[in-house]
Amino acid sequence: MTTYKLPLPKDFEGKYKNKNTHLITLTNRAGMQIALTDFGARLVSALVPDRNGDLIDVVLGFDSIQGYLNAKEHYHGATIGRFCNRIANGKFSIDGNEYSLPQNNGSNCLHGGNEGFHNKVWDRQVSFNKLVDFYYVSPDGEEGFPGELKTTVSYELTNFNEIIIKFRATSNAPTVVNFTNHAYFNLNGEGNGDVLNHEVTILSNEFLPLNEDQIPTGEIFLVEGTAFDFRQPKTLAEDINSQEEQIKIAQGYDHSYVNNQPISEPIATAYSKESGIELQVFTTEPGIHLYTGNFLSDDVGKSGKKYLRFGGLCFEAQHFPDSPNQDIFPSVRLNPGEVFESEIKFKFNIRKPGN
Ligand code: BGC
Repeated sequence: MTTYKLPLPKDFEGKYKNKNTHLITLTNRAGMQIALTDFGARLVSALVPDRNGDLIDVVLGFDSIQGYLNAKEHYHGATIGRFCNRIANGKFSIDGNEYSLPQNNGSNCLHGGNEGFHNKVWDRQVSFNKLVDFYYVSPDGEEGFPGELKTTVSYELTNFNEIIIKFRATSNAPTVVNFTNHAYFNLNGEGNGDVLNHEVTILSNEFLPLNEDQIPTGEIFLVEGTAFDFRQPKTLAEDINSQEEQIKIAQGYDHSYVNNQPISEPIATAYSKESGIELQVFTTEPGIHLYTGNFLSDDVGKSGKKYLRFGGLCFEAQHFPDSPNQDIFPSVRLNPGEVFESEIKFKFNIRKPGN
């Protein structure tokens, strides 16, 4: 196994809004290494062995806090909260009280508003070089959401090349929560072209169609016979330029699939023939949102390469977008006295040529 050649991101010791920022690295017995920062409780890099045993950084990101702040895309690798994805018109009601959120994506609220959890410096605790707990208390009324929300996100790197992310939250008033991790993966190495040659499998029969504002229509469509059918492995390239209306609306894939898999079975898999690296995604969440970096433009990443359109893919395990306004979707309400818990596992494997 060769050592990682690029310098690890290093310039993370700084301040953001009067709070100190840091970089934390974890290494497992297989040689895999991940880097995290308390700015946004974020995954900065994941160095994974490819089929030759060389370590490849498969996560898009930047080499300083300033890099994240300057980027056009704010969500790289971040914990997204208090409500990931879109809430239509930035409005929802709980028990007859209406709440208004920032409209930072057309008329919608996207990823928790302008100052979502990706933009906070979290407290942190590191245990046994394998586990990092991040803590953030979101005040009542922050970005328009009711209730003081105490949130913990923990990242564990196992010796089986798994990153296990656990979310936990409690609130002192009824509120809505939906967390995800927004890592962009490129299994050919970050900045190394696009991900269209990745073979993707999603073991779901159903996805949520969107309206022109990228809000779920409330219907559930069968994937059968559409560009959204990934029940058999298929490269992203195969249908990403399809003329189907749903692909045109999102300019690629930016859709939630219904997840009926237990946490012990992967809901989604991506594989690069080039590197031999396979990523499997496991989750307790009812949805898996496939986003193919349709709106990535020209940020320059940590190794100096441009992140182009389709330069990374996100498997965002989450509840369905706009759930607070859609009664038929699984509830996202969190009451005082309840504990919200969810889990996402990213597991990296190597496939031999021909498999
Ligand atoms: C959303 C995209 C959005 C992107 C921004 C994704 O989670 O689904 O529509 O453009 O985040 O990073």
